[in-house]
Amino acid sequence: MTTLSRVEQDTETAGPGDGAAASDEAPTHGVGPWEGAWPEDPRLDPELLREGDRRNVVDRYRYWRHEAIVVDLDERRHPFHVAIENWQHDLNIGSVVRTANAFLAQEVHIVGRRRWNRRGAMVTDRYQHVRHHPTADDLATWAAASSLPVIGIDNLPGSVPLETYELPRECVLVFGQESVGLTDEVREVAQATLAIAQYGSTRSINAGAAAAIAMHAWVRQHGDIAAGHGG
Ligand SMILES: C[S@@+](CC[C@H](N)C(=O)[O-])C[C@H]1O[C@@H](n2cnc3c(N)ncnc32)[C@H](O)[C@@H]1O
Repeated sequence: MTTLSRVEQDTETAGPGDGAAASDEAPTHGVGPWEGAWPEDPRLDPELLREGDRRNVVDRYRYWRHEAIVVDLDERRHPFHVAIENWQHDLNIGSVVRTANAFLAQEVHIVGRRRWNRRGAMVTDRYQHVRHHPTADDLATWAAASSLPVIGIDNLPGSVPLETYELPRECVLVFGQESVGLTDEVREVAQATLAIAQYGSTRSINAGAAAAIAMHAWVRQHGDIAAGHGG
């Protein structure tokens, strides 16, 4: 996570809908320059106060400095981690990072190649701790040292239903990549491998969708639902 320059902040103005990168169109969300008495709060960024804040952040963080947002998120992060295998530049990773940010995962782990396509993350990676592990073995070593059970997510023979599984509060949810799926190395160290129920003809859903469903399953079991709805 790094401090955003003015130019970088401008790339964060793409709308809350999705897909589109920042465009020349007038921003459709955010707030204009601060009106009224000048606030003294050190979390607020004078430049954003002066120029307005069009970033893709929830309203409670309007005008906040990037660093102050990360500090606040760090105080509230959930104890689950997510990991995704990245052997062939999986395009789902940006979406996984964005969802991990939305559900306030502790960290995202990229296993395999270090480089990943950030487009789908919509700049949310700037607010999310992302750690790289060259191999599945490295991820397993880190998880063991952190006393975190590894939970594989894939619909493979021997998988058990995610819908009825009691997820540990502290855990690492690991996703495989398109076509290859979860590797044997991850399955061997996983406490369980969980499948999301499907009813149609396709063999699988995409990893980004599976990650969103699995993270939300964690939220349903362990999250403060009222807080997630502004309560
Ligand atoms: C497109 S799938 C590839 C492998 C899949 N097992 C197959 O036979 O086609 C990529 C990743 O998405 C996740 N995934 C997709 N569908 C899933 C499901 N129904 N249950 C659990 N995970 C799923 C898994 O993490 C999987 O490794």
